[in-house]
Amino acid sequence: MEVQNIPLLTQYKMGEFDLSHRIVLAPLTRFRSFNNVAQPHAAVYYSQRATKGGLLIAEATGVSDIAQGYRDTPGIWTREQVEAWKPIVDAVHEKGSIFFLQLWHVGRAITNGFLPNGQTPISSTATGISPGVDGQEWAPPRRLTKDEIPGVVNDFRIAARNAIEAGFDGVELHGANGYLIEQFLKDYVNDRTDEYGGSLENRCRFALEIVEAVANEIGSNRVGIRLSPYTNLSESIDSDPDALGLYMANALNKFDICYLHVIEPRVYGTVVLQGPEDEVPHKLLPMRKAFKNTFIAAGGYDRRKGNLAISKNYADLIAYGRSFLANPDLVRRFEVDAPLNKYNRSTFYIPDPVVGYTDYPFLEEPN
Ligand SMILES: Cc1cc2nc3c(=O)[nH]c(=O)nc-3n(C[C@H](O)[C@H](O)[C@H](O)COP(=O)(O)O)c2cc1C
Repeated sequence: MEVQNIPLLTQYKMGEFDLSHRIVLAPLTRFRSFNNVAQPHAAVYYSQRATKGGLLIAEATGVSDIAQGYRDTPGIWTREQVEAWKPIVDAVHEKGSIFFLQLWHVGRAITNGFLPNGQTPISSTATGISPGVDGQEWAPPRRLTKDEIPGVVNDFRIAARNAIEAGFDGVELHGANGYLIEQFLKDYVNDRTDEYGGSLENRCRFALEIVEAVANEIGSNRVGIRLSPYTNLSESIDSDPDALGLYMANALNKFDICYLHVIEPRVYGTVVLQGPEDEVPHKLLPMRKAFKNTFIAAGGYDRRKGNLAISKNYADLIAYGRSFLANPDLVRRFEVDAPLNKYNRSTFYIPDPVVGYTDYPFLEEPN
């Protein structure tokens, strides 16, 4: 589908992948993977949003049993979990989409008593998120020892291999939103004194070791990473996000990975902050210019802003979260400039396999 004059609907070559448009499904946790196993209803949900030559990024998926911080989020560390993803990936591929899986470790972003067998959450630090932040009572973490770090890197490597075995085209490392990788990246959280803390180079070491291990395992052309240097979710704050973002964009070039996906400063987790909207986004431009492969921008985009960002070469692709959640045919709606369904926040995270998940109406019901 090449539609003239709609920048979002122009073709794009992302490494070896031929995309027919620039509209990406952002990773969206849905709390519907009972007992950490992806469910058959996810095949309906993702294939509803699949288009020929589109890119979908599946929801954050745990790399180990202590990587999960919320109920009913999927994993990819057991055989059962890998097998469960296969029919979902097949359904998306039948529609002709490219499908990446987001790999996740929550680190210290876990509430009290959540982890199995009384385990203690891990982080770069032994300091927990302050009580009451985001309305939660967070569990105090323990600081990963230097000797334990290769084991966590290895969990990501194995999870990536499992994702490829399940049929995914690639993986996106979740380096955003206050989770484990970001707990190393940001200086308000990372208080280490070894070579994984302190300088920018040291704080980025853990993330880059994971990138390298995963790229070696499945091929750099199958690896993306998501970063949010500017957002402060779960007290994950950096004193110089410009420098952090730019350092990572440059450092990632060494590994020649497929894409860098960055969240705009206006986003706080699942909420886009009110206030003066930057008409022409600009904050991510230095990262976009520094990174040599595909650049994806996300957060607070609508059709008009997405078209503007593509036409100004601010990004190669735009990821849409809440609007794609509520509009399974978002690509078609953007093509004909149709009104959008409104998302219903109260059903984002309910366990229902249909309500708020696969029941948002299409413009024209699919055959
Ligand atoms: C229900 C919901 C679940 C989300 N889950 C994830 C997730 O699993 N991984 C992630 O990186 N971001 C997640 N996000 C953030 C979105 O990917 C996106 O960055 C955010 O919604 C802002 O984009 P938007 O304005 O297009 O919605 C989630 C957002 C929502 C609304």
